[in-house]
Amino acid sequence: MADYDVIVIGSGPGGYVCAIRCAQLGLKTACVEGRDTLGGTCLNIGCIPSKALLHATHSLHEAEHNFASMGLKGKSPSVDWNQMKAYKDDVVAQNTKGIEFLFKKNKVDWLKGWGKITGKGEVQVGDETHKAKNIVVATGSEPSSLPGVEIDEKVVVTSTGALELGKVPKKMVVIGAGVIGLEMGSVYARLGTEVTVVEYLDHITPGMDGEVSKQFQKLLKKQGLEFILGAAVQKVDATKTKAKVTYKLKKDDSEEVLDADVVLVATGRKAFTDGVGLEEVGVKTNDRGVIETDHWKTNVDGIWAIGDVTPGLMLAHKAEDEGMAVAESIAGHAGHVNYDVIPGVIYTVPEVAAVGKTEEALKEEGRAYKVGKFSFMGNARAKAVFQGDGFVKVLSDKETDRILGVHIIGPSAGDLIHEACVAMEFGAAAEDLARTCHAHPTFSEAVREAALACGDGPIHM
Ligand code: NAI
Repeated sequence: MADYDVIVIGSGPGGYVCAIRCAQLGLKTACVEGRDTLGGTCLNIGCIPSKALLHATHSLHEAEHNFASMGLKGKSPSVDWNQMKAYKDDVVAQNTKGIEFLFKKNKVDWLKGWGKITGKGEVQVGDETHKAKNIVVATGSEPSSLPGVEIDEKVVVTSTGALELGKVPKKMVVIGAGVIGLEMGSVYARLGTEVTVVEYLDHITPGMDGEVSKQFQKLLKKQGLEFILGAAVQKVDATKTKAKVTYKLKKDDSEEVLDADVVLVATGRKAFTDGVGLEEVGVKTNDRGVIETDHWKTNVDGIWAIGDVTPGLMLAHKAEDEGMAVAESIAGHAGHVNYDVIPGVIYTVPEVAAVGKTEEALKEEGRAYKVGKFSFMGNARAKAVFQGDGFVKVLSDKETDRILGVHIIGPSAGDLIHEACVAMEFGAAAEDLARTCHAHPTFSEAVREAALACGDGPIHM
C-alpha cells in the first residue's frame, strides 16, 4: 500500500499521458494497468498495430501497381501473413516498452492489475489498496456489437480479432463504413480479400464533409472495396469457418444475405467501465455508460474522468489532451482543451483528414462561408507518387476570412492537417495560410493553394 497524489486507472493514451504529465508537475503518481503491456487499446490492439498493417499492405500495393511504371521490375512480393503479423507485433512491443521506459524515467509507478475504486481516495489493485488524493478514470472503450450478432473473434470479429486472423480470408463482410471498417477493409482488400462493406447510412464515414466522403468512396471502390449503403444488418449466422450476413435494404425493406469467411463488426465503440467501482462510490454515468464530467471532474470530489469513458469523440489524441489538462488542473494550473480544433484522420491511402466544421454543418448553422479548393492533380509532388486523386478544401468565413474548417483527402493528409490546426488555434484567416511561404515541392503546397482559392485564386489550377 502506498499514498499517492494521483492514481490514474488505465494506461491508454489518455491515462499514460496524464500520469506522465502529473509526475512532471511534481505529483506522486501511479498508473494502474491490468494488461501485460502499457498503452491500452491504441498501442496494443488499435491505432498502432493497424497502422503497421496499413503500411505493410500499402507497400504491397505499391509493388503490385506502381513499381513497374517507375522502372522497378521483377516479381511482386508474395505475402507471408505470419511474418506480417510478427512485424506488427514487433511495432507494438517497441511502443508499449517505450511507455514503460517513460514511466520509469518520470518515476510513475505501474500498479499491475485491474483497479477498482473502493472508497473515497482508495483504489484496490489485486490484494492491495492504495490511497490517492485524486483518481483519474481513463479506462477507455470496447467494441459495441449489434443485436443478433455474436462475436467469436475468429469468424465474426471486432477490430481486435481482425488484427489476428489465422489466415487472409477470401471474402470479408465489414459491417459499418466508419473509420475501423474502412481502415481494416483496406488492409484486407490489398491482401486480395473480396471486401464488401455494409453501411446503414446512405453514405460512408458519418460526420465527414459530404464532398470528401463521396470522393473517398469512389477511390476505395477503385481499390476493390464494394459498398452496400442504406442497409441495416439484421443478423449474422456463423459456423466455425463461415458466416452469413443478413441485411435489410432501407429503400424497400427487402432482405438479402451475403456469404463471408470473416465478418468484421465495426459499428462503433462503447465506454468501458466494468469493475471500476463507479456505482459503488456514486460516480454518475448516463444511459450509455458514459461518465458525464465538468472540466473532467465527475460528480464525486477527487474523481476525474478522461478519454473514451467521457462524452465526445473517441480519439486517442482527444484523450491525450484531456490527460494533460487534468494533470494541469490537479496541479493547480489552468487545464484547457480546445474541442473546436481536434483533427480526425483516417489512415487509408489516400489519407483523409479534417478539422473544424464541414460544409454541411456551416449550411445548417446558416453561416456565410467561402470555399477554397485545390486538387492534388495540380501538386507536382502528389503526381510523382501516384496520388493526384484527392483535394484540399478550406472553408473560411465570408466576411472575416477566418478559417472555419479544413478537409483533406490525399497524400499525408494526416500530417498536412496540422498546419490548419495551428492556424485555427491562432484564429488565422485563409489569407494567413495563403501568404505563408511553403517549401516546393511538397504536398503542403496544396493546402496553401486551397487557401489562395479562398482569395484571388490558386496558381497551379
Ligand atoms: P464509427 O462510429 O466510426 O462507424 C460505425 C458505422 O457503423 C456507422 O457508419 C454506422 O452507421 C454503421 N452501422 C451501425 N449499425 C449498423 C448496422 N446494423 N448495419 C450497418 N451499418 C451499421 O465506428 P467504428 O469504425 O467502429 O470506430 C469506433 C471508434 O473508434 C470511432 O469513434 C472512431 O473514431 C475510433 N477510431 C478512430 C480511428 C482513427 O482516428 N483513425 C481508427 C479506429 C477507430
